[in-house]
Order: sequence, then C-alpha cells, then structure tokens
Amino acid sequence: MIPGDLVQLRALAPSDAESLWRWNNDPDVMRWMDSYYDQHLEGVRKRLDGRGPNTYGDTLYGIEVRDGETLIGLVRLRGAEPETGCAELDVYLGEKDHWGRGYATDALRTMCRYGFDTMRLHKISLTVVTENHAAHHIYQKVGFVEEGRLRQVFHREGVWYDQYAMGMLKDELR
Ligand SMILES: CC(C)(COP(=O)(O)OP(=O)(O)OC[C@H]1O[C@@H](n2cnc3c(N)ncnc32)[C@H](O)[C@@H]1OP(=O)(O)O)[C@@H](O)C(=O)NCCC(=O)NCCS
Repeated sequence: MIPGDLVQLRALAPSDAESLWRWNNDPDVMRWMDSYYDQHLEGVRKRLDGRGPNTYGDTLYGIEVRDGETLIGLVRLRGAEPETGCAELDVYLGEKDHWGRGYATDALRTMCRYGFDTMRLHKISLTVVTENHAAHHIYQKVGFVEEGRLRQVFHREGVWYDQYAMGMLKDELR
C-alpha cells in the first residue's frame, strides 16, 4: 500500500475485475484512451488472476479513496529498467462521479514520488492526446513538460488526433 494525501495505491485483486470491465466499457472514460479488442468479464478476471505480483518493469496499482477505500481507477509504471532509469506512466479514473476532486493529481504525485524515491527512476514519460485537456492540465501541474508532438497517432470515430510526448525528471516533480 502506498499512501498519498487523498488516495492510496494498492495491488489489484481478481475481485476488482467487475470495476475494470465496467470502466473499459464506458465511452466517457475511454474517450481518449487506447481501446483494445472487447473482453468479457470472465476474461478480465482471468487476466487479473494470471498477472502475478508487480515487478520493477511493470507496476500496476489500483487507486483508492483514502476514506472509505473505494476503488476509483488505475495507475501504472511500465517499461522501467534499472540500466536506463526510465519508465512510462498511465493513469485513469474509471469512476466518473469522482472526477474533479483532485484524486488523479494526487495519484500521479504519489506514483511518481514512488518511482523517483523508491524505484530510483531518473525520468518518467507519457503520451496524451492533445484534445484531452483535463489530463494534459494535471500532467503539467505535477511537473511533466511537453517534449514533442506526435502527429496523427490516435484514431477515434474517423478522426486522427495528435499526442503530446511529455516527460518529467526526478527534480521536476511538484
Ligand atoms: C483526466 C483524469 C485522469 C482527471 O482526473 P481527475 O481526478 O478528475 O483530476 P483532478 O480532479 O485531480 O484534476 C482535474 C484538473 O483538470 C482541470 N480540468 C478539468 N477539465 C478541464 C478542461 N476541459 N480543460 C482544462 N483543464 C480541465 C480541473 O480544473 C482540475 O485542475 P485544477 O485542480 O488545477 O483546478 C480523469 O478525468 C480520467 O481518468 N479521464 C478518463 C481517462 C483519461 O483520459 N486518462 C488519461 C489518459 S492520458
């Protein structure tokens, strides 16, 4: 368990499958997220069951509200290597009624602090669709800076969108 100010990060269990399946089928949540082939609930449960423990190279946590322990989303550091000190970050809040309360900002800070202080990472990177203004805002707020623009790499309903490549160095976390 990794405590933040408003949220805490915890390992996922097969019993979280229903929440993940519901979020993955919510068009508002998935609006700017990569979508994969549809999976039934039992498939999500099996995937969680077979994941095994978190590793240095793939650290996935559920985001829980601290008072009440409601699971509201996921945050992940993937591709970490001790040789490079670099990793990629993903975050999303599947419970839409919890948006706008500072939870994702706190989850981001908590995960990045863990990455820099405990995993001794040097740099965390991510990509975000340029139209995903709320996500772009919170990334900048915690210290990510734009490092480039990837042209037409995200496709949704017949339209191609650009993504920002963003990165944060250890001393830039706010
Ligand atoms: C994007 C997301 C993570 C934000 O989570 P959240 O818990 O609502 O975020 P917070 O409450 O911590 O902060 C939201 C911030 O965005 C701002 N914001 C909201 N809508 C905005 C918009 N359209 N344009 C600019 N800023 C916006 C808010 O004002 C707030 O900033 P502030 O605290 O400085 O006032 C969440 O909405 C989500 O998971 N969306 C779907 C999945 C997704 O897009 N994930 C990111 C993929 S890269």
